[in-house]
Amino acid sequence: HTPGLCPSHRKTWRSWVAASSSSQSCVWIIVSASFLELSVTELKDIIEKDELNVKQEDAVFEAILKWISHDPQNRKQHISVLLPKVRLALMHAEYFMNNVKMNDYVKDSEECKPVIINALKAMYDLNMNGPSNSDFTNPFTRPRLPYAILFAIGGWSGGSPTNAIEAYDARADRWVNVTCEEESPRAYHGAAYLKGYVYIIGGFDSVDYFNSVKRFDPVKKTWHQVAPMHSRRCYVSVTVLSNFIYAMGGFDGYVRLNTAERYEPETNQWTLIAPMHEQRSDASATTLYGKVYICGGFNGNECLFTAEVYNTESNQWTVIAPMRSRRSGIGVIAYGEHVYAVGGFDGANRLRSAEAYSPVANTWRTIPTMFNPRSNFGIEVVDDLLFVVGGFNGFTTTFNVECYDEKTDEWYDAHDMSIYRSALSCCVVPGLANVGEYAARRDNFTGLALRDEVKYSASTSTLPV
Ligand SMILES: *[C@@H]1O[C@H](CO)[C@@H](O)[C@H](O)[C@H]1NC(C)=O
Ligand SMILES: *[C@@H]1O[C@H](CO)[C@@H](O)[C@H](O)[C@H]1NC(C)=O
Repeated sequence: HTPGLCPSHRKTWRSWVAASSSSQSCVWIIVSASFLELSVTELKDIIEKDELNVKQEDAVFEAILKWISHDPQNRKQHISVLLPKVRLALMHAEYFMNNVKMNDYVKDSEECKPVIINALKAMYDLNMNGPSNSDFTNPFTRPRLPYAILFAIGGWSGGSPTNAIEAYDARADRWVNVTCEEESPRAYHGAAYLKGYVYIIGGFDSVDYFNSVKRFDPVKKTWHQVAPMHSRRCYVSVTVLSNFIYAMGGFDGYVRLNTAERYEPETNQWTLIAPMHEQRSDASATTLYGKVYICGGFNGNECLFTAEVYNTESNQWTVIAPMRSRRSGIGVIAYGEHVYAVGGFDGANRLRSAEAYSPVANTWRTIPTMFNPRSNFGIEVVDDLLFVVGGFNGFTTTFNVECYDEKTDEWYDAHDMSIYRSALSCCVVPGLANVGEYAARRDNFTGLALRDEVKYSASTSTLPV
């Protein structure tokens, strides 16, 4: 029996790891001369770090081979020191069998035999029993630290707005509660990351419709108010394009808005831009190839299937091909070369369906449906996967999370959040110096209460390319 292949139809994240590495060729080409001159100790120190930024462990193994092949006679014996530093059980089983187990340096090394056996055992356990917290200490299964953290911020939970913030560690498939208790609850707001800060924009707390904007510094963990928007905007759509945050549409407590504005951090100012063709609350927006796209929403009378694109140079909105479904409470995100429009409410049902827009062809095509219907959820792309987070399924708010991989054209289950909620907003923060404070713990796990006592080393390193 080959470990690593999940028999169930509904695949989980772990089997995604197994599934995708085979289709992904190794992109790490080690050309740096200084890399080839590293001592075995230096190389070992690099590849054993959790901070090493690799999505697939194949890359680490290939780097070792490259390093050895620079001076095979003297270096091949070091395979036994280097191989155990690769998170071997996270590799695709097929790659492990064909490329690692069958590798000549590995086969020739007596010391590598137990490494191979233990790695196989760990791989088997992982795929039979699923991930457990002990996998975060086992050197064969311990995931690398993520390069980017996905934040799920606020929303509506249990009949009231929440201030909950959870951080998703995509490499460990775990959520970490990073709620800041002093912060007030917000739902139906927007969230955006720009130049080191997370902005939380507009929204609603069951009493007030907000024009206010809060700025969170994820390194210092401080909060500040910045300049308010021109309009109160609940059910607002938000995106970032070349150093501006765009906030579009929404509901000010009286009317659905067609107005839009953008924020410049340097001047701390919001400036109105051209209004959209439609009033849109509960729409969603994204940026692709230097343009802002906004799709769907609710105009006060009906759920919309229309979509439009904003050109910053001409300050003009242009209507694009309409979506195939009406979608309010939709999730819109740029992923690969397309704008994805996912889920939402069509006036009768919460939707499982999703579609992708090609700007080149100005056409929409349907993609496979999600496992769960949802509206008013969070949507983001992290580690080349499109995640949908929480939302309302027509009956209840949910903590369910799933992800779509465009390479396999399939949806996968991801780990649930701890807090069920809709009307949340997600954003992704890359390259945090203190990423360990938002990631699942990799040391011996004894509970969340201890997490703040642990200090992680600051830098995220990458393999030299
Ligand atoms: C998350 O953390 C906050 C603040 O420490 C706490 O009040 C809340 O109960 C936690 N939520 C969960 C689901 O653990
Ligand atoms: C963590 O667990 C490993 C294996 O179970 C053990 O060898 C090690 O001593 C533990 N470390 C700490 C700090 O408890």
